[in-house]
Amino acid sequence: MERKTYYITTPIYYPSDKLHIGHTYTTVAADALARFKRMTGYDVMFLTGTDEHGQKIQRIAEDKGVSPKEYVDEIVTGIKALWKVMDISYDKFIRTTDKEHEKIVQTIFQRMYDKGDIYKGEYKGWYCTPCESFWTETQLVDGKCPDCGRPVEMVSEEAYFFKLSNYADRLLKYYEDNPDFIQPVSRKNEMISFIKAGLEDLCVSRTSFDWGIKVPFDPKHVIYVWIDALSNYITALGYSTDHDEAYGKYWPADVHLVGKEIVRFHTIIWPAMLMSIGEPLPRKVFGHGWLVLDGGKMSKSKGNVVDPLLLVEKYGVDAIRYYLLREVPFGADGVFSNEALVKRINSDLANDLGNLLSRTVKMVEDYFDGTVPQKGTDEGPDRDVIEMALSLPSKMEENMDTLQISNALVEIWRFVGRMNKYIDETAPWVLAKHAEKKDRLASVLYNSCEALRFIAVLLKPYLPNTYTKILEQIGLADDEMAAWESLKEWGVMKPGTVVKRGNPIFPRITENAEVKDDKKQEDAKAMEKYITIDDFSKVELRVAEVIEAEKVEKSNKLLKLKLRLGSEERTVVSGISKHYAPEELVGKKVILVANLQPAKLFGIESHGMILAASNEDSLSLLTLDKDIESGARVK
Ligand code: MSP
Repeated sequence: MERKTYYITTPIYYPSDKLHIGHTYTTVAADALARFKRMTGYDVMFLTGTDEHGQKIQRIAEDKGVSPKEYVDEIVTGIKALWKVMDISYDKFIRTTDKEHEKIVQTIFQRMYDKGDIYKGEYKGWYCTPCESFWTETQLVDGKCPDCGRPVEMVSEEAYFFKLSNYADRLLKYYEDNPDFIQPVSRKNEMISFIKAGLEDLCVSRTSFDWGIKVPFDPKHVIYVWIDALSNYITALGYSTDHDEAYGKYWPADVHLVGKEIVRFHTIIWPAMLMSIGEPLPRKVFGHGWLVLDGGKMSKSKGNVVDPLLLVEKYGVDAIRYYLLREVPFGADGVFSNEALVKRINSDLANDLGNLLSRTVKMVEDYFDGTVPQKGTDEGPDRDVIEMALSLPSKMEENMDTLQISNALVEIWRFVGRMNKYIDETAPWVLAKHAEKKDRLASVLYNSCEALRFIAVLLKPYLPNTYTKILEQIGLADDEMAAWESLKEWGVMKPGTVVKRGNPIFPRITENAEVKDDKKQEDAKAMEKYITIDDFSKVELRVAEVIEAEKVEKSNKLLKLKLRLGSEERTVVSGISKHYAPEELVGKKVILVANLQPAKLFGIESHGMILAASNEDSLSLLTLDKDIESGARVK
């Protein structure tokens, strides 16, 4: 029999900066769902990736003096490293700069055009570059982007439009026929109101920049980044290619997991695109809440982002995964706080779970030479804990199917709490004092070990390392005795299994340790602000004379300069166009970073970077105080 499939996706992230704890939140949640489905027998496809085109990325790369591709390559390497640290078990990582993705997006666009859903017009309106969103005058809030509150730009250009307005009724009907499509239900109501307020056709191409996928039948246009991005969910499966087996197998997606701010794109634009090309719609879009800091959304510009790598270094990956999955009911907004994190680690992980494991293993070592004893007849509270354990798998399935991830963990911890109470009630240390109670003692410790086996397996999708650590201490391996199926019965653990006490799985975080840690970090930081003379001498600075200068077409920031360094000539692209006219520059002697890795900007290879001082409004090039021949070294 073929296995049931489960296709889950995260948003594809903008590589506009390093990702923070908010992005990690979505990805860890998707990972727990994917792992849970895999463990419970599904053939899972878990997709994540990066959304690399668009004006914002192009501008950032330009500012940094590198090509957009070079810029995103570096960020993507960092994102993949982060997912490795976070133990994200994705099956595929899609990048919108993948050649195959680019080709399929053009096919999708062409199909929408052939259907008569795309027409040419003139776009005049407001555009928010960080959100890559178009807005009408009435949608703006205080003249700013209604989503992020940042300034918008007036855009006026020839553009293609998608007849989104034609799909309003069909979308509403789809929501009605598929009541679980948009979750939680509050988000569904928002979408219904949005559609009812009137859907306008959507501008789906841009001509004012070129970092994107070209419109196949009109290459001076690039395809709107959201059309490009949303398509990833099917391009990743090889849609429309001669190797589209994955598409046949996994589409439609079971869940698109997204933050609440992009539910609109996923439940209006994306389904309308799919209807246009005649493909089935995803089964569910779940819009989770935001993780905020001090009441505000995390953002680099506010300087309040939390770096997941630092947290993992300090507290360990499973502690962070646990906090993200447990602290906030999935769907609602939540506040990230260090105190709450430490509290969760100390109470739930170190105290409740850690102690249950260490006291159980220690007692098996002390009273039965480290081997799990044979149990006798059930008595007292035994039935109670066994029933509770056996009821857990179906509760977990129910919670995970409705994406109540934190509730799933609450259930496990209820059992952890019950087991700690069981040990207190049965008081093995008292039983151990009476030889005639040896059988009862054996039963209690057998049940405690078996309960830990249940807990380890139940925790596997959420805390994969803790799963391994618990198994190791209770003498089991990652095999059928630790499989989901093995939770159908109580008593799978074999008497005679040798347990082995290890380090505490979650050491308590003490204030002192924190302070010491912080001090160490401060000292390291203090040194970080210096570079050595060797570091500095790696930078080859030279005097260069500008011999030609011209504007770079299509860019409002860049100038192309020809420079002379002694007998050598080279081309450098520089982002100074707003501050210098090309003709003022010819003849000037400037300072060049001569050994900077070459980069391609707007198709021009740039060999170095010239130095300038700048603040918010002005920029001044570094030149010489006394004349000296070009090519001279600056040190
Ligand atoms: N590139 C688009 C998505 C295209 S999907 C076809 C995008 N990228 S993003 O980098 O801005 O990431 C947005 C997603 O990151 C959110 O939808 C959410 O899942 C996650 N989060 C980013 N910040 C977050 C918080 N502070 N809290 C919770 N999730 C957050 O939008």
